[in-house]
Amino acid sequence: MSRIAVVPGSFDPVTRGHIDVIERASHLFDEIHVLVVHNPDKTALLPVAQRVALIEKSLGESEAATNITVTSWSVGLLVDYCTDVGASVIIKGIRSQVDVAYETPMAIVNRDLAGVETIFLLPDPAHAHVSSSLVRQVAGLGGDVSPYVPRAVAEFLQQGR
Ligand code: PNS
Repeated sequence: MSRIAVVPGSFDPVTRGHIDVIERASHLFDEIHVLVVHNPDKTALLPVAQRVALIEKSLGESEAATNITVTSWSVGLLVDYCTDVGASVIIKGIRSQVDVAYETPMAIVNRDLAGVETIFLLPDPAHAHVSSSLVRQVAGLGGDVSPYVPRAVAEFLQQGR
């Protein structure tokens, strides 16, 4: 049976840290579903379809494995998507103790709801300070975000200026 894992997130926009975690996950599972989820707690910069397109383009820039699909989910719980596609694992990237504190309650609830386990993966420490919210802020104020995001994302954000 194929081992499927879901890497969910807002990805608004995808960062180099996200791509690092997705690629690491792709070596551990047969199939990876990168799932763009609208987070109602956050004010979005990019439409969901644009985020999906930028992740696909960014993975195309790297030597990413071919077992990765990128899609979005807007109806119901994350674990409903996992059940629908036969995924028993959710992967989350962890940069610091702050991420552990944020992710742990969600991981426990997702396990309680549907028996879906969460695995925390550590990205390269070079990305430990990078977040989508920081990228949104720097890009919005005209700064250079190219060290933090894949080339496709940097180019896209620059066009919007
Ligand atoms: O990148 P983010 O914004 O930290 O991702 C958070 C996200 C979208 C993965 C999280 O909010 C989520 O899982 N939303 C789906 C709704 C859901 O299933 N909630 C209940 C279990 S936590």
